[in-house]
Amino acid sequence: MNKTIKDYDLTGKKVLIRCDFNVPIINGEIIDETRIDASLKTIRYAIDRQAKVILMSHLGRIKEEGDKQDNSLLSISIKLSEKLDQKVLFIPQTRGLKLETAIKKMKNGEIILMENTRFEDLNNEAESKNDLELSKYWANLADIYINDAFGSIHRAHASTYGVPSLLPNGIGFLIEKELKALSYFANPERPFIIILGGAKIKDKIGIIDKLLPKADLILIGGGMSYTFLKAKGYEIGTSLLDKESLPYVKRLIKEYNDKIVLPIDLNVTVEFSNTTINRIVSIENIDPKEMGMDIGPNTIEQFKQILNTAKSVFWNGPLGVYEFSKYEIGTKKILEVIANINAHVVLGGGDIVAAANKFDYKDKVTHACTGGGATLEYLEGKKLPGIEIIEKIES
Ligand code: 3PG
Repeated sequence: MNKTIKDYDLTGKKVLIRCDFNVPIINGEIIDETRIDASLKTIRYAIDRQAKVILMSHLGRIKEEGDKQDNSLLSISIKLSEKLDQKVLFIPQTRGLKLETAIKKMKNGEIILMENTRFEDLNNEAESKNDLELSKYWANLADIYINDAFGSIHRAHASTYGVPSLLPNGIGFLIEKELKALSYFANPERPFIIILGGAKIKDKIGIIDKLLPKADLILIGGGMSYTFLKAKGYEIGTSLLDKESLPYVKRLIKEYNDKIVLPIDLNVTVEFSNTTINRIVSIENIDPKEMGMDIGPNTIEQFKQILNTAKSVFWNGPLGVYEFSKYEIGTKKILEVIANINAHVVLGGGDIVAAANKFDYKDKVTHACTGGGATLEYLEGKKLPGIEIIEKIES
């Protein structure tokens, strides 16, 4: 059993809590607060016990200096202050005198949020490559480390792996809850159907061959589906494509032809925009200038028929660009279907949970999980570094 925050006396201790505040932000506005809400229980527990709480998280992916502007955690500190009804002091540094001084001055029950851990990726990818010097620096700021960033437990980064390897550690309430909910999939009632969509193709496509033996069917839509359609020989125009994965996808289609269900029609347009003219086409008739933006009505109907037979469903990644009104229909309709079937339904990942929130289906499923990639790797049966590094106690 993993050690948890409850196994420590937190009074007067500097407790470093790794959260996952990687929330969707458009034009500076947080458009889905699920992950922030999910972090509150652990933070409140620590401040109620008079800990000095230091929060850390990543946001987005930081590849160049210009990425910093849109990915500061300042807006998260404002939102957290509102929700906790207490000041969350934002320190615009990941290391340095300001951060060290602010921590030294902390009183029991106070909260600090440091800047996006991935700003350190501009320093030879120190965060993402689990740099030892950075891990030591962060570990030296605190007495106890708590990981509550469920969405990031599949990452062996400095903030999720390096730091806990150097400090007494445990998990928070969110990770505890998510692991409990996901344990259902060790032996799911069948038919067990997985729905896969979303745009993080490169991250997730490699997992599909590990999921296929576990599921009875995998329905593939959204950004994930075009590489499969291309592999089957269809014209996909300018749709998202993971070219390097084509040989692998061709092998999957050959080996698991009876388990992979792909769209039969699409909602397409010529630009990634909500304003250009769109049309519904069968997958045989995509123009080279067009890109897939959503699944079409026949695909919705086909997915519906299949899902009506399911006893267990896991869904990661939207089936279209649900942020645009013209391309929300596929995701919305399939959410409606799974909200009404008699099955154990789990949604996994920031985007699909944000879509379920937007269309008011989040409370109509068995569980909405805050991690997408993390959940897929859990289902795959992979060891998750963010959990592996946590101290164990006899159950
Ligand atoms: C997620 O949104 O899946 C997590 O926050 C992890 O983000 P990452 O894929 O950029 O590591």
